[in-house]
Amino acid sequence: VPGKPERSVAGHYTSGNLTERIFAALRASGCDPGRLRPEDLAPIDQFHTGGRRATQELAQLAGIRPGWQVLDVGGGLGGAARFLARKLRCQVTVLDVTPELVEAGARLSERMDLAGLVHFRLGDALDMPFADARFDAVWTQHSTMNIADKRRLYQQLCRVLRPGGRLALHEVVAGPVQPVHFPAPWSGDGSTSFLLSQAELRSLITGCGFRELAWQDVTAPSLEWFKRTAPIPGVPGSPLSLKLILGEQLVPAVLNQVRNLEERRTEVVQAAFERP
Ligand SMILES: C[S@@+](CC[C@H](N)C(=O)[O-])C[C@H]1O[C@@H](n2cnc3c(N)ncnc32)[C@H](O)[C@@H]1O
Repeated sequence: VPGKPERSVAGHYTSGNLTERIFAALRASGCDPGRLRPEDLAPIDQFHTGGRRATQELAQLAGIRPGWQVLDVGGGLGGAARFLARKLRCQVTVLDVTPELVEAGARLSERMDLAGLVHFRLGDALDMPFADARFDAVWTQHSTMNIADKRRLYQQLCRVLRPGGRLALHEVVAGPVQPVHFPAPWSGDGSTSFLLSQAELRSLITGCGFRELAWQDVTAPSLEWFKRTAPIPGVPGSPLSLKLILGEQLVPAVLNQVRNLEERRTEVVQAAFERP
């Protein structure tokens, strides 16, 4: 309903019976849910600009090493977590605040025989149930836009990383032109959207104790990717798409994000930091 504040972040990402609807959509698009391949799930479990390619690039940028213990904050259905588990045999913990995504993500991981390497945990990034220095890397992809208290967030991320551990970040940030057009993929009406500019985010993260290793403005390739992959209004898309999560809001949200990037209302960054 236009003008109605969103109930919550989890409410925005909840559509009901998601697990069953994903398996039905997999069958409808000709995939065998009993023998799932990573590429089968990419239209829905890589809920960020650039899809699987961006996940691969971020792993390289941050120097994620084989066998590492990784925390994926706001990891959703766990597409990136399964990528790190399969390619690098990392042990990945997905922490996410949306129960339906956590449940569906765990079921998908079981089906792909990755439940031993990828663990899902329901919880809020601002209140992390993990011991100090527990992880070799912390990963956030398109999830911090929903989090208002960024100082507390990055302090928590620093706390759970061991000295020498890496922070891998891929996020939407505020551009020089405001306001942002909503609905956007991460928030229907903007009440759960909290974007900082690149400069603000960068200095906040280093202010929380991190050392910057790489900072890349990937707005231009992100816009190109959106233009190639955006749904066309009125044309029915594949049964397996983010519409399963966002419903009818998906098409206006994606088209708005194309405009946001074109008009420099939002930008996209990929970055890597180290806990000294
Ligand atoms: C756009 S999705 C991205 C999911 C995943 N990182 C990916 O790239 O496919 C944003 C995710 O962040 C999660 N999220 C938002 N705020 C959170 C918080 N405070 N704590 C944990 N998860 C959060 C949402 O539940 C959602 O799964």
